[in-house]
Amino acid sequence: MINARIDKDINSGSWVRKIFEVGVKLKSEGKEVCDFSLGNPILEPPQKLIEAMQKYSAEKGIHRYMSNAGYEEVRKKVANYLNENKLIDTSFDRIIMTSGAGAAINVVLRTMISQDDEVIIFSPYFMEYVFYIENFCGKAIFCKTKEDFSIDFNELQNKITNKTKAIILNSPNNPTGKIYSKEDLQKLSDLLLKQENKIYIISDEPYRDIIFDDLKYHSICSIYPYSFMVYSWSKSLNLAGERIGYLACTKDIDESIIKSLVVSFRVLGFVNAPSLMQKTIGDNLLPIKNIAEIYQKKRDFLINGLTKLGYSVFVPQGAFYLFVASPINDLEFCELAAKEQLLVTPGTGFGCPGYFRLAFCTDDVTIEKSLPLFEKLMKELKNKK
Ligand SMILES: Cc1ncc(COP(=O)(O)O)c(C=O)c1O
Repeated sequence: MINARIDKDINSGSWVRKIFEVGVKLKSEGKEVCDFSLGNPILEPPQKLIEAMQKYSAEKGIHRYMSNAGYEEVRKKVANYLNENKLIDTSFDRIIMTSGAGAAINVVLRTMISQDDEVIIFSPYFMEYVFYIENFCGKAIFCKTKEDFSIDFNELQNKITNKTKAIILNSPNNPTGKIYSKEDLQKLSDLLLKQENKIYIISDEPYRDIIFDDLKYHSICSIYPYSFMVYSWSKSLNLAGERIGYLACTKDIDESIIKSLVVSFRVLGFVNAPSLMQKTIGDNLLPIKNIAEIYQKKRDFLINGLTKLGYSVFVPQGAFYLFVASPINDLEFCELAAKEQLLVTPGTGFGCPGYFRLAFCTDDVTIEKSLPLFEKLMKELKNKK
């Protein structure tokens, strides 16, 4: 018998992964697929980064264990970058290099959550949060957002209890591309500081370098004193498979917590973030220069095409996802789309039925080819009515 929780995880499964696997199968059968299922950027990392990887891979001693928190010189560079850009007030000894954002979130939850502690997440949400929270016997509490996916403060106030330990905030958001305004972040901070129990924020920011329409990104970590910042280069440097990111803590997070985070990282079995990638990133901290421009073009092309076909699209302010109102039940729509070799993910998988998500971190040819397929689907649905 396997653990009952894993059994539940398998059955409730991630819709994103399920659809992605359908794509893998179709492709293995030689079929052409328009795959918008996974936030797995198809672009390559910059050449300069590949060269740094080659250089460091030959460096003596680099392939050994190191301090669990990672190379000090890399953490210092990260701390300087964060402080200079006013994203968080921190120092290198409050930074842990991690195996991507997923590891960083697990490390915080493992350190902060006791049995039945509650962690609030805003719907729609990145589905893995639920599994991560349950890894440590915490309880995921779902908080609805407003129609424009901004924070509904009345709803949030109602969800806060004396068991609330943390809130996970994801801006720009996966799946909506929503960026929380500075005013809302300030309001959130004010609300949390008024609570009797100390509530921590886990700010999951892997998309913060992909911001559209010249908007400015503000991190809650520069506003709220009890914040954990989670970042990854998976999306900003197209490095998702290399598993590199970090966890950074504000100055008000207790030193004892920082020590415990390092222990959690070790005992969860991560030990240290990949050594080669830490060194490489140390020389390549910045996101791809025109990354927002690249994705904005794809976004605008798709929004224009889909809107003309009669789809109702929420305009994302960042990240590389479109959240589209589903013309019929979202699970049925995604199934019909898959039959046309068009892979999109149901909103149900993000706790928000009635929508589907398109990850447009793919090539322009796929994007162009998808529009006639979306057109065919819409026509079929209209004919059925
Ligand atoms: C909102 C969000 N958080 C975290 C992650 C995990 O990223 P990483 O590859 O850095 O573990 C993802 C990946 O898609 C994501 O969309």
